[in-house]
Amino acid sequence: MSSDPTRAHSVIDLRSDTVTRPTPAMREAMRVADVGDDVFGDDPTVNGLQDALAQQLGFEAALFMPSGTQSNLCALMSHCQRGDEYIVGQMAHTYRWEGGGAAVLGSIQPQPLNHAADGSLPLADIEANIKPDDAHFARTRLLTLENTIGGKVLPMDYLAEATALAQRRGLARHLDGARLFNAAVAIDAGDPYAAARRICSHFDSVSVCFSKGLGAPVGSVLCGSRAFIAQAHRWRKMVGGGMRQAGVLAAAAHHALTHHVRRLADDHALARRLAEGLSGLPGLTVEAPQTNIVFVDATPAVATGLLDHLKQHGVLATGLYRLRFVTHLDVDAAGVDRAIAVIREHCLRTGA
Ligand SMILES: Cc1ncc(COP(=O)(O)O)c(C=O)c1O
Repeated sequence: MSSDPTRAHSVIDLRSDTVTRPTPAMREAMRVADVGDDVFGDDPTVNGLQDALAQQLGFEAALFMPSGTQSNLCALMSHCQRGDEYIVGQMAHTYRWEGGGAAVLGSIQPQPLNHAADGSLPLADIEANIKPDDAHFARTRLLTLENTIGGKVLPMDYLAEATALAQRRGLARHLDGARLFNAAVAIDAGDPYAAARRICSHFDSVSVCFSKGLGAPVGSVLCGSRAFIAQAHRWRKMVGGGMRQAGVLAAAAHHALTHHVRRLADDHALARRLAEGLSGLPGLTVEAPQTNIVFVDATPAVATGLLDHLKQHGVLATGLYRLRFVTHLDVDAAGVDRAIAVIREHCLRTGA
């Protein structure tokens, strides 16, 4: 945690990387942001962010969105028409965690597939679920992947193969890259921007969140071709995402893009520290983290009362038998060590 007294906070909040609060430097960037009316396309800070990210990730254009959910929704609705279908993972945010928006608002049918252990969607399953051109079936139009997915980094070879398959079969390819830069840092901490660009080179569109590990309070950016972004812009307006002096928010995202990408490696190191500290404790099975998310399976004896015990001692997490701990900008090594100590005390008492 920061030593800034305005951020002093005794709770170790490991529920999500969305809980971060803007740093003093980020708040300053927001304060001085030059703004205009973004619905007129006049906000220089929004335009600057969009141009910078599009260029960095190798796309023609980009569009600032209030949330990752809206960014994914506008992407799906731009790729697919009413009666079309997208192939997606059972645990993917765009299928499971977005209120069924693509189906409700876009009349787009999801075709969910089970994930392999590494988070990928098996190529044979993708192939087998692309429907023939027949009036009985929805038209399969899109493959949607997520990276990272449950904290796991999809292998670059897999991305190449899955997206080549999609392209061969005439499907567009969208990436929910809410945590694109976590994947990029895990692949190449020395040049995460280049790694992010390599990941994106396999997709027609990518949605990137700034309000997760990158630490901005709000905001996602959807990237794609100029024509695709023009379409998404119509949908964004329709679903109420046109914002006015949005440069105040875009300034936070731009600050994050410049200053908070490389430091994601610190979050990954803290996740490993947490996993190492918990492994071997009675009643826990710890999955080695690849990025900033640690999953821990707890026996019923240990799981019972664990979250309450943590909360009483100032540590927040989610899950029950499968617990989730997420490291981020507002957690430091001392906080992680405190979390380990509190969990250890509970496991030694209940799990022996
Ligand atoms: C993988 C993924 N995609 C998309 C989203 C949606 O982002 P938002 O909460 O900004 O709508 C989230 C949010 O947690 C996410 O984890």
